[in-house]
Formats: sequence, structure tokens, C-alpha cells
Amino acid sequence: MKGTRTEEEQEALALSQAELKKQSMQEVRRSLPIFPYREDLLAAIHEHQILVIEGETGSGKTTQIPQYLLEDGYTQGGMKIGCTQPRRVAAMSVAARVAQEMSVKLGNEVGYSIRFEDCTSERTVLKYMTDGMLLREFLTEPDLASYSVIIIDEAHERTLHTDILFGLIKDIARFRSDLKVLVASATLDTERFSCFFDDAPVFRIPGRRFPVDIFYTKAPEADYLEACVVSVLQIHVTQSPGDILVFLTGQEEIEACCELLQERCRRLGSKIAELLVLPIYANLPSDMQAKIFNPTPPGARKVVVATNIAETSLTIDGIIYVIDPGFCKQKSYNARTGMESLIVTPCSRASANQRAGRAGRVAAGKCFRLYTAWAFKHEMEESTVPEIQRTNLGNVVLLLKSLGINDLIHFDFMDPPPHETLVLALEQLYALGALNHLGELTKLGRRMAELPVDPMLSKMILASEQYKCSEEVLTIAAMLSVNNSIFYRPKDKVVHADNARMNFVVPGGDHLVLLNVLEIRYFYHTARLSKGGYKTVKHQQTVYVHPNSSLFEEQPRWLIYHELVFTTKEFMRQVCLLRLGWLLEVAPHYYKSKELEDSSSKKMPRKQGKTKEELG
Ligand code: CDP
Ligand code: MG
Repeated sequence: MKGTRTEEEQEALALSQAELKKQSMQEVRRSLPIFPYREDLLAAIHEHQILVIEGETGSGKTTQIPQYLLEDGYTQGGMKIGCTQPRRVAAMSVAARVAQEMSVKLGNEVGYSIRFEDCTSERTVLKYMTDGMLLREFLTEPDLASYSVIIIDEAHERTLHTDILFGLIKDIARFRSDLKVLVASATLDTERFSCFFDDAPVFRIPGRRFPVDIFYTKAPEADYLEACVVSVLQIHVTQSPGDILVFLTGQEEIEACCELLQERCRRLGSKIAELLVLPIYANLPSDMQAKIFNPTPPGARKVVVATNIAETSLTIDGIIYVIDPGFCKQKSYNARTGMESLIVTPCSRASANQRAGRAGRVAAGKCFRLYTAWAFKHEMEESTVPEIQRTNLGNVVLLLKSLGINDLIHFDFMDPPPHETLVLALEQLYALGALNHLGELTKLGRRMAELPVDPMLSKMILASEQYKCSEEVLTIAAMLSVNNSIFYRPKDKVVHADNARMNFVVPGGDHLVLLNVLEIRYFYHTARLSKGGYKTVKHQQTVYVHPNSSLFEEQPRWLIYHELVFTTKEFMRQVCLLRLGWLLEVAPHYYKSKELEDSSSKKMPRKQGKTKEELG
């Protein structure tokens, strides 16, 4: 019999449904490996100021510990619990999950803060944030007085910002005896953390791991992308139910892999069961990211194609099969030349083992390594080198200087950065006018530190005031701040994408804008045309214009570039043309006219161009 429900009945039904959902959520929370240790953990936190917490990925460290602390009264009086994440995606998705578990609206009691996006409010007491954001909070609140607990999560990732936080937080913990510090990590490196934090005790959460069978290839794979696609389809048609997780190195590869998989599934049509292909990487829109957590419908199989974000930061339930080609994209930095490279390199054995572990969370699983057992033993490093030892430190040095830490050489680093990298960062900041010749922060430097962007961009933004072009400069800075190009270039539409990009090209260069913009900034990174390529002015290094640049064909004599990136060659990315006289005008303390002289430059008109009209 079909009846119509009164409004009250409908309301009651909705309420009871919400109650059911809440109950089942509580059941899920109680089923996590961390739950039996709740009381012991809280007691240990009560007893010790600094505690290292080690637990298998997926045991509930990130989502549960802040809730336990809240339930235990750590947010009384409006105090906050902060939890850092090295990755933006993780901060967002974990906060969303916790808000859901607590049945509150994201941004109220539970929020997140990542660069350029603050999803918190006055009411927020559980705050998830990127490690970089907490670092910036030191600028406004050097003793983190509004926090009762700081959780440095995913500590084993050893990102640059996490490493700096270690030093700063260890320092403030000395005079803030009421502050609790928790260092949470996957099952890696915990003894080192304990040692760094004056022998802080390690609380171990025993994992529930099912066995994972590991398979290697007999010979090296020539094309690991293709090998991934084939392996996924093989698993799909031959293996029992269970979802698949594939590790690739970045957006481009992931998109290519997903397209290939979809294309082959289309061709096979109804001959195979449904295969849901889902990508996950940092720049994926958040609604698409959320999809990977949806349960797989009966009869279908899910394949998640991920970067190493799925190694330890995110846990996707239901994974039984892992495909690991054994690569990751890694930053490296040459302090002598100032060249930052992003290269696909073999991942470490520690990473490979974390990846394999993802297959054994819900049942016995299988991990297919697309490399040989020999390569695993002999070609992979034991563990990943911390980021602080392979990146440009300009940003961090500026921040530390503005926190009043002048003696960087003796800063309490867990692993100190190479000496040359520190020196180069100081030199760069001096060139930009952020430091004076004694290495002290200038007024300009202080203002630069307030902007959460690369020092070269902050200098450009601040200098634009003087040249009355702030609006344009902000647009450019925004575009240069996104990690990837703003131009989307899907594999099957390369020609269309390139044509579309050509529509935006204006004479002058990639910054698509005014000459006056150029002359105030990018002077630190300059290059001159020389046989077959370019030479950087300061270091005489051979470099090339990136083929994606609008100046690739034109090859002007002098250039400013935004960054040097090594992919297949030493490429300058985001370049624009430069007139010689500008360098001496804006950076006379840095460039000697002798450095800029050569046979070709003598013929150049020494014109002091500044106006928009000159572009035409
Ligand atoms: O931090 P840890 O790796 O120890 O685990 P977690 O991130 O707290 O995740 C605990 C559990 O929460 C996972 O096993 C998932 O079942 C669930 N979870 C989820 O469903 N969706 C998320 N966005 C995050 C976690
Ligand atoms: Mg976690």
C-alpha cells in the first residue's frame, strides 16, 4: 500500500536515516586498528610532551588522533589542534572525511588550510593544513599560542617544510610546556625522529596487514606505461574481485594511462566486466578527487591511477592489487648552477615496500612490480633523500630570516642542507634586495616574506607598485605560481591545444605582458643567445628555450627566464625578451657592465624601454 507521508513523518525518517549513518560511521571508526589503543595513546600523550607515533598506513592516525584529542578535552577554551600534511589533496580530503565522521559542516569545527584556500572559521578547532601553511603561521604567531597540540603528520615524507617545522617546533616546545607535539609517521624512520626530539618515546600501533605476494618481471620493461595498461587488463580478466592501484609519476602519465585504459575497454566492450578508471593527482579538481573513495558497484572493478600520494597519504579501501612500475618524479637541485630538475627516477626500496603494502589492507593481495628482482636489490636506493638536500632554499631562508633566525648554519636541522645551497639562497636574496650585504633582512625582505610565493615573484609583485602595473603583475604571478602550465594539453588533442595557445601569444614573450613588468623582475635569471642555445649570464651555463614557449622560434638575443628545468635538456621555462640596459638600471649592485659586454651586445641599442607601446 502506498501512502503519502506527512511532513513530520518525512522529517523523522530523515533524522533516523542520519542517525543510522552516524552510527555506522561510529562503527567504522571503532573498527580501525588504532581504536583498541585509544586509551593507551591518550595516556602516553598526557604523560609526554613529545611523542612519536608509528602506524601502518590506513590504521587511523590522521583521521582519529585529532578526534580522540578533541574528545579528551584538548580543545577546551577554544584551543586548536593542528595537523600538518605534506600534500594539499590529503589535507582537504582528510578534513572532509573527519567532518563527515563528526557530522559537522566542513569549515566549521573541522577545517583545512592550504595555500590560497582557507576553509576554516572562528569555530574551527581541528585544523588540517599543509606543512607550508603552518610554517607561515609562525610569522603571525611565533609561539603557536592558539594551539594545544601540533601533529606533524606523514613525517617520514621528509618534505622541506616538514623538516623546517621539526626545528622550529622543537624550539618552541622548550618554553611552551603546555604544548603537545605528536610526530606521526608510517612505519619508517621512527627511531630517527625519536632521536632528533631528545629521545621522545615511540608509540607503535600494530598494523593489521594481510600477506602480499610480490611478482617481478623477468626482464626490464621498455615502456612501463604500456606495461601498466596491459597488467591492469590482465588482472581484470584473470583475477578474482578486488580493486587495482597503479603508481605513476605525474599528471601527464596518469592521463595517458587512463585514456589508454578507457580506449581499450571501449574496444573490448561487453566482453569484459565494467572497469572504472579513476585518476588521482594533486592538480585534479576536488570533486574528481573525491570519486576515488566511492565504493565500487557490484560486478565492476575499480582501478585508481595515482601518483605517490597514494603511497601513505591517502588510503583507498578495497585495493587488492598494486601495480608498481618503480618510478617517481623527483626534484633535484644543483646549487652551483641554480638548476632545479624534475626527473623521473627509480623510487626507493622503502617507497616500493609502502606501495606493495597498499595491497594487503583488506585481504591477502598481490603486488606486480614492473621491474626485475635484481633491479630492486641493486638499482634502487634504500630510502629517499630528504627534500631539504635537493631543493632551492630561497623561500625558506627568507622565512627563517624573518622569524629572526639569522644563523642558519647552526639551525637545528635533522639533516642539514648542502652548504652551497644555503649560500646560493643567500646570494639570490641579496641580489633581489631582500638581504643587505651583512645578510640581514631589509625592509623589502620583510615585506617579501609576507607573500606566500617564491622570492622572485614577491619581489616582482612589490616592485610593480612603483611601476604602476600591479594588476598585470599579479595576474602573471598567479599564473607562474601554479605548478603546471595553465595550458591544458591532452595527448589526443595536442594540435588543437597548441593552436589554441597560439591565440594568446603576443610579441615579447611568455609572460604575455608588458615590458615594464619584465624589467623589474626576472633580472636575476638572465641568458644570452650563444651558439645553438643560450648561456646564463651569471654562471655561463648552456640552456635552451622550452619548445612550448612562444619565443621558441624567435630566439631573441637576451632573455629573462622564470625557471630552469631539466627534462630532456636544460630548458628555460616562461621566458621573455630583455633589453640590456635594464639590467644595469635595476640591478647595478648585481651586474657589472663588463659581465654584459660581448661582441653582439655592443651592437645592441642601449635603449631604456619602459612603455607598453614598445611591445607593438
Ligand atoms: O593516517 P592513517 O594512514 O593511519 O589512516 P587514516 O588516513 O586516518 O585513514 C583511516 C581510514 O579512514 C582509512 O582506512 C579509510 O577507511 C578511511 N578514510 C576514508 O574513507 N576517506 C578518507 N578521505 C580518509 C580516510
Ligand atoms: Mg595518515
